[in-house]
Amino acid sequence: MAKVKVFRCRICGDPYIGTEAPKRCPFCGAQQRYFVEANDWNPDEFNVTLSEVSRKNLEAALQLELDNTAFYNCAKNAAEKASDNYSIAKFKALMKVEREHASAISKFLKISPPELEKVACSANSQANTKEGWERENRAIKSYVKFSEEATESRMKEFFSALVEIETDHLDLHAENLQQLQSKTTH
Ligand SMILES: [Fe+2]
Ligand SMILES: [Fe+2]
Repeated sequence: MAKVKVFRCRICGDPYIGTEAPKRCPFCGAQQRYFVEANDWNPDEFNVTLSEVSRKNLEAALQLELDNTAFYNCAKNAAEKASDNYSIAKFKALMKVEREHASAISKFLKISPPELEKVACSANSQANTKEGWERENRAIKSYVKFSEEATESRMKEFFSALVEIETDHLDLHAENLQQLQSKTTH
């Protein structure tokens, strides 16, 4: 049987133990190719001399991630009230991933992650899924732009990894909305 090893995700920095790197980071959702073995970890991964534009874009990304974390937290609580087990799981996982993004961004900015503000959401999980789709769509558009504007290769990489992750989320919401629509029309 394959032996377990310690890996680290280059997008969030978190360690992972397994026989191989996971297909998606369980913490930040990054794809497998961003994992390195813990022995090969570069301790300066989050120590980037930031251009003015990347600093400004990281600050905007931080607000976006905090806002989405708070939104998914609200959506999870609404799903709990409705005893909607699938939506509880989905929104909780999304909340954790977005919080991880806020924490990774804070490492680049060399600050501690700010407190969450309260964000309103619907009592209905379908409406929250629709809003989730819109939020992910906005995040993707911002991160595509931030990646293009970055002059540091590490910042380009980081923002494009976020584009991939939020695209996973977008696809998940889209699939759920499609399923819900086919349920109501058939
Ligand atoms: Fe990660
Ligand atoms: Fe995110």
